Amino acid sequence: MEINGRTRTCGLIGDPVEHTLSPMIHNTLAGRLGHDLVYVPFPVERGRVAEAVAGAQALHILGLNVTVPYKSEVIACLKEIDPLARDIGAVNTLVQCDGGYKGYNTDMEGLYRAMQSEGIEIAGRDVILLGAGGAARAVAYLCAVKGASKVWLLNRTLEKAQKVADEVNGRVSGTVIRPLRTEEHVRIPEGKYLAIQGTSVGLAPNTEDAVIEDEAFYEKIHTGFDLIYNPWRTKFMRLVEAHGGRAYNGLKMLLYQGIIAYELWNDTHVCEEDALAVYDKLKEHFRQR
Ligand code: ATR
Repeated sequence: MEINGRTRTCGLIGDPVEHTLSPMIHNTLAGRLGHDLVYVPFPVERGRVAEAVAGAQALHILGLNVTVPYKSEVIACLKEIDPLARDIGAVNTLVQCDGGYKGYNTDMEGLYRAMQSEGIEIAGRDVILLGAGGAARAVAYLCAVKGASKVWLLNRTLEKAQKVADEVNGRVSGTVIRPLRTEEHVRIPEGKYLAIQGTSVGLAPNTEDAVIEDEAFYEKIHTGFDLIYNPWRTKFMRLVEAHGGRAYNGLKMLLYQGIIAYELWNDTHVCEEDALAVYDKLKEHFRQR
């Protein structure tokens, strides 16, 4: 693209940002949709996120994505916050507003759109969620809000699972989230579950790890969705498939969290054809590595 005096800037703040795929998502979209916009990564040192947001405002930066480790810390730097992001307690997208930035969380809606695009339903489903960290907490909230009938929340540290369950159950009617220590998965009744892998176990370079190795567990899984996309096929996905289930990685979640951020910045809707064109480009990137 040709940068000129009117080109608007968006970017990513985090530490580290070197390996981000977000520039590929946003610059491809801007090119396809003919928007005069450029997206760049901005590494921000620990303790300087408030300065970074104030600087972005002074520079009229249209919008920012926020990644590890600032998704919670950035909340104190916002002028406004979307209620959903406030409930989740994490912000990954800033949109310019009067006097500063408004914070959103597009990770959760991104996962939902990724699942819809694969034909995976949450409403009325029995779900098993692995993990109780920041990412899994947002997934627990998504499942509750989208009408899952039950969510077995498995975590190595039971107290964290209990805390997430208390928080999320407090916001919806009924006790949707049921916390268990990971080893207690044998207590989950027989069935055909949607399992969402939200721990960091299995992430490259530890590609031979899965949070549950017990083959019997995978007999219960109809569909497995791993939030990890590096490696392309995680050990969890391989175990799901080995027991006859369908398995998906987290690349479409990454894609759609970006698409939703792009839609917020440009007040537009990205059609499925454009979304899938970006997805093909992301996939190509993995194929070439
Ligand atoms: P994120 O923001 O990516 O969710 P996080 O908040 O650090 O990262 O959460 C990491 C999740 O992976 C947690 O559920 C963590 O379990 P604990 O709550 O018991 O720490 C889980 N996790 C990380 N390493 C693990 C391991 N080796 N075995 C089992 N679970 C692990």
